[in-house]
Amino acid sequence: MAYPPPQSREQDYPAAPSPARLVVLISGSGTNLQALIEACADPAYGARIVAVGADRDAIAGLERAEAAGIPTFVHRVKDFPERTDWDAQLTGTTAGYAPDLVVSAGFMKILGGDFMRRFEGRIVNTHPALLPSFPGAHGVKDALAYGVKVTGCTVHLVDEGVDTGPIIAQGVVEVRDADYEDDGEALHERIKTVERGLLVEAVGRLAREGHRVQGRRVLFST
Ligand code: GRF
Repeated sequence: MAYPPPQSREQDYPAAPSPARLVVLISGSGTNLQALIEACADPAYGARIVAVGADRDAIAGLERAEAAGIPTFVHRVKDFPERTDWDAQLTGTTAGYAPDLVVSAGFMKILGGDFMRRFEGRIVNTHPALLPSFPGAHGVKDALAYGVKVTGCTVHLVDEGVDTGPIIAQGVVEVRDADYEDDGEALHERIKTVERGLLVEAVGRLAREGHRVQGRRVLFST
């Protein structure tokens, strides 16, 4: 079997009028969000964050959004009878902000069918490993457990799989012997340093230039 499965899809996603509207989804400390907030302060970046959404409250990322004067919303899966109800609410609230791009920046929930259909091709995720290796919630620890010598981060479009969407950009980080001593914490911090720059660069280009999905490839439009 060919890997990855061949895809013949071709689709254009033209740039939105500047500044592009971003909704950023988070679950934790929000350092990727912070990097986007700082990038958006420059009008030349071509994007602005119109809302920040989370799947939990009392997280540092929400405080960062509030400090920057950005509207926030929280939808917790456990507050809904079914996961599909949560997905419908997340989709509705996000759609209410009319985003041109949705950025999943450390959002630790799998987006559902409603959300995917509504924002298909315009959802960006960042993952702390070199996909397709080590998808899922433990990318850093899984890479370390495997004994890799290099790992890194991947910015990609979201599809219905877990970390399987077309890749936009990747960054490489070397693994050090000392990384085995703290369960990958220092390694994750080094990855996040690269990841923030990669995400800011990728989102800015998507916003300013638009993009085309050609099979597994994401091409910027200019
Ligand atoms: C990032 O490494 C992201 O890829 C992973 O969780 C981390 C989130 O960091 N899923 P932060 O909340 O942006 O600081």
